[in-house]
Amino acid sequence: MSDRYAQLVNSPIGKQIAGTVGLPIPTPLERHSPGDPLIDGDVLVGGADGGRLAAAVASTLAAAHVDIATELREDLRSAAADAGLDAAVFSSSSPASQRFKGLVFDATGIRRSEQLVALRDFFSPGIRRVQSNGRMLVLGTPPADAGDPREATAQRALEGFVRSLAKEARNGTTAQLVYVAPGAEDQLDSTLRFLLSPKSAFVDGQVVRIGKASKPPQVDPERPLAGKVALVTGSSRGIGAAIAATLARDGAHVVGLDVPALSNDLDAVAQGTGGSAITMDITESRAPEEIVDHLKNAHGGVDVVVHNAGITRDKTIAAMSEDQWNAVINVNLASEEAINDALLESGVLNKNARIVCVASISGIAGNNGQTNYATSKAGVIGMVQALAPVVAKQDATINAVAPGFIETQMTAKVPIAIRQAGRLMSSLSQGGLPVDVAEAIAWYASPTSGGVNGNVVRVCGQALLGA
Ligand SMILES: NC(=O)c1ccc[n+]([C@@H]2O[C@H](COP(=O)([O-])OP(=O)(O)OC[C@H]3O[C@@H](n4cnc5c(N)ncnc54)[C@H](O)[C@@H]3O)[C@@H](O)[C@H]2O)c1
Repeated sequence: MSDRYAQLVNSPIGKQIAGTVGLPIPTPLERHSPGDPLIDGDVLVGGADGGRLAAAVASTLAAAHVDIATELREDLRSAAADAGLDAAVFSSSSPASQRFKGLVFDATGIRRSEQLVALRDFFSPGIRRVQSNGRMLVLGTPPADAGDPREATAQRALEGFVRSLAKEARNGTTAQLVYVAPGAEDQLDSTLRFLLSPKSAFVDGQVVRIGKASKPPQVDPERPLAGKVALVTGSSRGIGAAIAATLARDGAHVVGLDVPALSNDLDAVAQGTGGSAITMDITESRAPEEIVDHLKNAHGGVDVVVHNAGITRDKTIAAMSEDQWNAVINVNLASEEAINDALLESGVLNKNARIVCVASISGIAGNNGQTNYATSKAGVIGMVQALAPVVAKQDATINAVAPGFIETQMTAKVPIAIRQAGRLMSSLSQGGLPVDVAEAIAWYASPTSGGVNGNVVRVCGQALLGA
C-alpha cells in the first residue's frame, strides 16, 4: 500500500533523475501530531475594504498563539490588537526573509467585480513568501446571501480564483475558499483551525460553507470530543480504523462496527483506541434497530455517527450483474438511509450530534466500471444535502467527505498503472493516507462545527478527476 514512486523520487538519486526527465516529485506532506502547534509559522492576514471577518480570524489566531503580520491596513491591525496580537506589518517591499506558513484573505468586502483585483494585490506578493506545506485561505460571503446580483457575481468568482490558486501552489501548499454566511462569524473558528493546520494536508482546492448555528461550546482543542460517544462503521481496517483512532485521540469513546468475519481485527482496533466493538452486517433488516438499541442501552445515546463501511464490485454496465449492482447500493447507500431514519426517529442522537458520511470523488465525477459505486456515492451526497435542514431541527449536522485516491486495501487491488495514475493526477501528485480522511471527519465531528452542515468536501489532493 506504500507509494514506492514517491519514495523513489524523493531519494537523492531519484530526485536527480526525476528532475532531469521532468517527472513530478511529490512533496512529503506534513501531518499533525498531538501537542503540535496549530500552524508551524507566521500567518499573513489581509482583506478587502469593508470585510467583516477580521475580528473572527484574529481571535482564532490569538487563541492558538500564532504570530501574524498584516498589510498596512488600520482595520486589520486594530482587529489584531483587540484580540491581543502584536501584528507585524507586511508590504511587497518587506525583506525576502519574511516568510509565511499561512495566508488568509478576507474577501467579504468585495461587492463588485472591479474589486476582485484585491486578490491579485494580496496573493501575488504573498504566494512567493509561502513556506513548504503552507496554507492559503480566502474567506467570502455565500453568493446566495449577497446583497445584490453584482455582489453575488463577485463572490461566486472567488471559486475560480481559489481552484486555480491551488493548482499553482507548489511544495505541498494548499488553497481553500470558506463562505461564511452573514451572522455566522462566530462559527468560523473550527474550520479555520482545520484548514490552517497540517490536519488538512490532503484537502486542496475546496469550498466550505458555514451557516448560522448555536454559539459553539468551549472545548479543549486537543480533546474536543472528550465525553462523547462515536459509532464508526467499517472500522476494522483502512480508513475506518484511522477514523476510530483519530476520534479516540480527540477524546471520544469509539464504538467500532464491522462484519462478524472481521471481529478479530475489529477487536484489535477497539483495544488500541480504548473503545468497544459490535459486529453485524449493516444491510441486515434488523441492523438499524440493533444499532439504536446498543447505543441506547450501552451508552445512553450517541454524539457522532460515521457511515464509513463501503464496498466496490466494479464492472462496466454491460457486464454488471444484478447482484453486483444491489450489493453496492445496499451497503453504500440503502443501509445508511435506513440507519439514519432509525437514528432520527428513535431519539438516540444526543444534542449537537454529528452524522458524517464517506462518499467518493467517483460520486462526483463518475468512473469507468463504477456505475453502481458512483450511483451509491452520488446518492450519499444527495442524502447529505436533503437531510441537512432536517437534522438541523434536532441541532445536529450531516456532512460528507469525498475521498480521492487513498492508500488502503481497497485501492491496493487497483491495477498498478491505474493506481499510479490515480496518485499522480492531482495537484499534490500523490495518494492520501487514511488519516487525511479521518482528520476531515474529526473536524466535522467537533462540537464546535455546528455551523458546518450539508457540506461535501473532497479529500483528494485536488484530483484532476471531476475537478
Ligand atoms: N480507499 C479509497 O481510495 C477510497 C476512495 C473513496 C472512497 N472510499 C470509501 O471509504 C470507505 C472506506 O474505504 P476503505 O478503502 O477503508 O475500504 P476497506 O475495504 O478497507 O474497508 C471497508 C470496511 O467496511 C466494512 N464493510 C463492508 N460491508 C459491510 C457491511 N455490510 N456491514 C458492515 N461492515 C461492512 C468492511 O468489512 C471493511 O472493514 C468506503 O466507504 C469507501 O467507499 C475509499
